[in-house]
Amino acid sequence: MTPSKVETLRWRDDHLEMIDQRVLPARFEYLRFDSAADVALGIRDMVVRGAPAIGCAAAYGIALEARRLRHHPPTEFISELNKGFDCLLQSRPTAVNLGWALDRMRRIWNACRSTDKAAPPHEIAERLLSEAHAIKSEDIAINHAIGAHGAALIADRARVLTHCNAGALATAGHGTALGVIRTAFASGKRISVIADETRPFLQGARLTAWEMVQENIPVMLITDSSAGHMMSRGEVDLVIVGADRVAANGDVANKIGTYTLAVLAARHAIPFYVACPLSTIDLATASGAQIPIEERAPDEIAGFGDLRWACEGAVMRNPAFDVTPAELIGGLITEKGVVRAPDERKIRALFDQGAP
Ligand code: MRU
Repeated sequence: MTPSKVETLRWRDDHLEMIDQRVLPARFEYLRFDSAADVALGIRDMVVRGAPAIGCAAAYGIALEARRLRHHPPTEFISELNKGFDCLLQSRPTAVNLGWALDRMRRIWNACRSTDKAAPPHEIAERLLSEAHAIKSEDIAINHAIGAHGAALIADRARVLTHCNAGALATAGHGTALGVIRTAFASGKRISVIADETRPFLQGARLTAWEMVQENIPVMLITDSSAGHMMSRGEVDLVIVGADRVAANGDVANKIGTYTLAVLAARHAIPFYVACPLSTIDLATASGAQIPIEERAPDEIAGFGDLRWACEGAVMRNPAFDVTPAELIGGLITEKGVVRAPDERKIRALFDQGAP
């Protein structure tokens, strides 16, 4: 397994650093994080984004908080660390990897407390940091497994349309949808990527195009509204996207505009795949209708950075995600293999093989 060229998050001695994804590709810089509140703000403001990367960041947020509190009296350590869990959990609502990673961290903390002789705070802090490191390295390995399963679905010379950024930047490394593309490209397939801009945060134009250019993977940038035209002209062979949350019945919440692409793909009989780790599947949510959809500040659609172009006075709405019904999804590409025409029975069977 080759190490990822893009290290979205990295631990440095006593603090966390994350690439500031708000300023890419104009600037490539890391920001420093020292507490759970810092990391929660970084997630909310989208310094770090993408479901698996958000989960990793939250895990490190807890490790940082435990470290920061390790010399406090035990009662204060407990109450402040609990607050850290709460503020991280509330940072973004749709990506289920956030709650999944925090649950893992809480299990470690509970295990430290459940023995006869409860571990002292400094030892708990060490154990939580080890768990955060494990979540990060497992994510990279899982993405390589997703890549290997998904690459088999891509023909030589395929033109692959992707939406948003489900790449190394959205994960601990390699990526999910872009992980499939990377693995297929590395195996010698002469594929090319069509990245749509992904308004309003422009993850496609800024992040996906940047990742592909770094590795000389051919990429063409289009506006979001060009996808239907290109499909109708036979210029798209398949669509692969990531996911923020997959409901038990196979409905998928992903970046706003994913549903539109799935409908268009069905209209043109183009295979539509979703690449995601099992940690993105939420068996506790029955269907897409129950997935919380984040509404972000209208400012994000009124302009970008300091530039504002929208007419003052118009009411604006900015839902950040939409739900694609399972019936439009050709397959879920997971680390355990491809679930074709996903439904509840097939999805539950994935976990019966032993969840990660
Ligand atoms: O708002 P974002 O940038 O966090 O949205 C990200 C996406 O929608 C990704 O497609 C998803 O998280 C999968 S990342 C592997």
